[in-house]
Amino acid sequence: MAGWIVPPPKTPTKSPAQYAEERRRKVRWLEAQGLLESERIKAALLAVPRENFIPAEYRDYSYEEVPLPLPGVSATISCPHSYPLFYEPLGLDRGHRFLEVGTGSGYGAAVAREVVGAEGLVVSVEIDPLTHEFAKQNLKRAGYTDVVLVLGDGGLGYPQAAPYDRIAITAACADIPAPLIAQLNVGGRAIAPLVENEGQNLTLVTKQPEGVRRETLCQVLYVALRGAYAGGAESVDR
Ligand SMILES: C[S@@+](CC[C@H](N)C(=O)[O-])C[C@H]1O[C@@H](n2cnc3c(N)ncnc32)[C@H](O)[C@@H]1O
Repeated sequence: MAGWIVPPPKTPTKSPAQYAEERRRKVRWLEAQGLLESERIKAALLAVPRENFIPAEYRDYSYEEVPLPLPGVSATISCPHSYPLFYEPLGLDRGHRFLEVGTGSGYGAAVAREVVGAEGLVVSVEIDPLTHEFAKQNLKRAGYTDVVLVLGDGGLGYPQAAPYDRIAITAACADIPAPLIAQLNVGGRAIAPLVENEGQNLTLVTKQPEGVRRETLCQVLYVALRGAYAGGAESVDR
């Protein structure tokens, strides 16, 4: 996993109370960094126990700023700060129809479900069968029974539940796949790490009647998108 140093696997030692305290401390840190502003996203991050979405051997590192390995090929749960980093510029809010490409652990889908509420919708697509199964078990155990989990190529979106108000692509690609733009409402936003100049730029796209407007936000480092829209990130596996 080039680019990140994965901490050594070990038997978990922390209590639920310790995790809860680390979660509250992380939220305060994200606010202090200016990464977290919205009350709904803050409440969602406080509501979802991230440690319950992480394999036991990495659980003690749940609130450290490092992506952690998951069952599957090159699958990871992103760093804690990734979630407000994506959801704040998206303006993810109550009632939104949200599509996530790259379910990973299911944690991002759970946080999104807390934000959009029962009147919204969360659909999440994962290409790796082992990772998909891991997320399915995590979300079921955590009580998120109405998140639509799809095993497939998220580059193709999920037209059955389109259109979406917001789309997050959590793996790096050369450009936002055309089917995802097609499945986005006019006025809707999508966010993705785009491979540019041998690095990755987190890019926010807004769909307008006359086309899409792009805004580069910051440099990031994510696993490469697989499937029909793979390309552009072959040299970067994290
Ligand atoms: C950074 S991880 C996602 C983290 C996840 N959002 C979470 O909260 O744990 C990226 C994920 O994208 C998945 N992925 C890669 N290409 C994909 C594709 N074409 N369609 C769906 N998932 C894909 C990987 O298997 C990996 O699980």
